Amino acid sequence: MEGEMVPEARRAASKATRIALGVFVSGTVALGAVLFLVSQGLIKFHPKQQYCLTSECIEAAAAILSKINQSVDPCENFYRFACDGWIYNHPIPEDMSNYGVYPWLRHNVDLKLKALLERPISKRRDSEAVQKAKILYASCMNENKIEKADVKPLLSILRHSPFRWPVLESNIGPEGQWSERRFSLVQALATLRGQYSNSVFIRLYVAADDKISNRYILKLDQASLSLASREDYLENTTEAKAYRDAFLQFMVDTAVLLGANASRAESDMKSVLKLEVKIAEIMIPYENRTSEVMYNKMNISELSAMIPQFDWLGYIKKVIDTRLYPELKDIGPSENVIVRVPQYFKDLFRILENERKKTLANYLVWRMVYSRLFNLSRRFQYRWLEFSRVIHGTTTLLPQWDKCVDLVESALPYVVGKMFVHAHFQEDKKEMMEELTEGIRWAFIDMLEKENDWMDAETKRK
Ligand SMILES: *[C@@H]1O[C@H](CO)[C@@H](O)[C@H](O)[C@H]1NC(C)=O
Ligand SMILES: *[C@@H]1O[C@H](CO)[C@@H](O)[C@H](O)[C@H]1NC(C)=O
Ligand SMILES: *[C@@H]1O[C@H](CO)[C@@H](O)[C@H](O)[C@H]1NC(C)=O
Ligand SMILES: *[C@@H]1O[C@H](CO)[C@@H](O)[C@H](O)[C@H]1NC(C)=O
Ligand SMILES: *[C@@H]1O[C@H](CO)[C@@H](O)[C@H](O)[C@H]1NC(C)=O
Ligand SMILES: *[C@@H]1O[C@H](CO)[C@@H](O)[C@H](O)[C@H]1NC(C)=O
Repeated sequence: MEGEMVPEARRAASKATRIALGVFVSGTVALGAVLFLVSQGLIKFHPKQQYCLTSECIEAAAAILSKINQSVDPCENFYRFACDGWIYNHPIPEDMSNYGVYPWLRHNVDLKLKALLERPISKRRDSEAVQKAKILYASCMNENKIEKADVKPLLSILRHSPFRWPVLESNIGPEGQWSERRFSLVQALATLRGQYSNSVFIRLYVAADDKISNRYILKLDQASLSLASREDYLENTTEAKAYRDAFLQFMVDTAVLLGANASRAESDMKSVLKLEVKIAEIMIPYENRTSEVMYNKMNISELSAMIPQFDWLGYIKKVIDTRLYPELKDIGPSENVIVRVPQYFKDLFRILENERKKTLANYLVWRMVYSRLFNLSRRFQYRWLEFSRVIHGTTTLLPQWDKCVDLVESALPYVVGKMFVHAHFQEDKKEMMEELTEGIRWAFIDMLEKENDWMDAETKRK
C-alpha cells in the first residue's frame, strides 16, 4: 500500500474504512451468518463435530456475537445485522469521519507506537534505523519549530523543478518561475509517486497476478482524486455542489496562504477543478470494476502501442523502487503488466493532450501541497479543518502525536513494524505475527482492488 501524508491518507483512510468495513463485514458475517443459521437450526453439524471450546475460540465467538444484531433479519438488512453491535459499542470519534474495526485496531497500535517512539534514544540498544525513526518523530513533535518555519520548508520544495507551482509564479521570485518548456508530465508524475507516494492519474503498484497467485506483477489502475468519490464531482445534488465549492475555496485559500495573488489563484484553481471533473467523468465506476474486465495482461510494448502518448516504460522505471524489487531492475518492453482500466487510460491521455500544461502543473503540484499540509503550521491546518468540516464533518484536528506516528510509519514502514513486533510479541510468536501481518496486508490490498462484488451498493457506501 502507498504510505501517504495525512490528507491523502485521510482520504485513503475514508476509502480504506469503507473497504475495511467490507473486510469486516465479509469476515464477521461469514462467521456470523453461520452462527445465525446454526442458531436457527438451519445447519446441523454432524454429532461428532468437535466444538472449539478453548478460551481463544470462546473469546472470538463472543467478539463476533458482540458485533452482530441478532434481532435484525440478515435478509432484510445485512448491514445492520452485521454491524449494529459494533456501531453501538464504538461511536465515531470526533476527529474521524467514519470508523470501523480497522481504524479501531489502528488506534490501539498507534498508541503503542507512540510510547515506543517516545522512549529516549539508546545508542547501544537501538539500531540505526530505530534511532532515525525516533529522531523523525521528535522533529515532527517539535511544534514550535514547525510554527516558526511556517511556509519555508514547503516553499523551498516549490521553488524547484518539477514542483514549481504556476499559481505562485508572480509572487515567489524569479528563481521559482514555472516554465512550460521545461515541464515534463512523466517526470512530475514519477517524482510524485516515487518520492511522495502520491498516485495522481495513474496508480502503479506490484501485486500478485490474479490468475497465477504466486507470481508478482506490475499493475496499472486509475488513481483517486482530491475528493473521495467520483460522484462528488459529477452529481448535481446540493451536497455535491457544496463539496465542490468548499474544495475550490480551500485550494484558492491554500495557494493564497502560500503567497499567490488571490485573483490569479481563483482562476487557476477553477481550471484545476474543471480538470478533475473531466477525470471523474472517465473513471470506471465501481460497478464496472469486475475482476474479469480488469484483467488485461500485456507487455509494456503492447501498452505503448495502445496508448502511445505516454512514455510508460520511462515512467515505470522512474517509479519502481529497485531496492525493494531488485528483480525489476532490468525491466524492459517485454515486461508484462496488468492494465486494469484500458479505456480509462485511453480517455485520460486524450484529455491530458488537450489540456493546458499550466493547468496540469497546477494540478499536480496542488496534489503534492495537499499531501503535505499536515506538516505545516497551524494556520494551514485550521484552514484544512474548515474544509474537512464541510466534507467529512470533522470538528477537531488529530492530536500532533497521532499525525507524527502516521508520518513516521509512512516514511519508515518496515522499521516501525519491526519495533512494534519486537516490543509486543515474544520471540516464538514473531514469525507467526509477521506471516499474519503479511497476510492481512495482502488481503487488504486485494480488497483495495475491489473484488467484493457481492456487496450491494447501499452497503458498500456505508
Ligand atoms: C438491534 O435491532 C433491534 C431491532 O431493530 C433494535 O431495537 C436494537 O436497538 C438493535 N441493537 C443494537 C445494539 O443496535
Ligand atoms: C516537517 O516539518 C519540519 C519542520 O519544518 C521539518 O524539519 C521536517 O523535515 C518536515 N518533515 C517532512 C516529512 O517533511
Ligand atoms: C449536472 O449539471 C451539469 C451542468 O448543468 C450537466 O452538464 C450535468 O450533466 C449534470 N449532471 C448530472 C448527473 O445531472
Ligand atoms: C493580482 O493580479 C491582478 C491581475 O494580474 C492584479 O490586477 C492585482 O493587482 C493583483 N493583486 C495583488 C494583491 O497583487
Ligand atoms: C458500465 O457498464 C455498463 C453495462 O455494461 C455500460 O453500459 C456502461 O457504459 C459502463 N460504464 C463505463 C463508464 O464504462
Ligand atoms: C509483446 O507481446 C506481443 C504479443 O504477445 C509479442 O508479439 C511481442 O513480441 C512482445 N514484445 C516484446 C518486446 O516482448
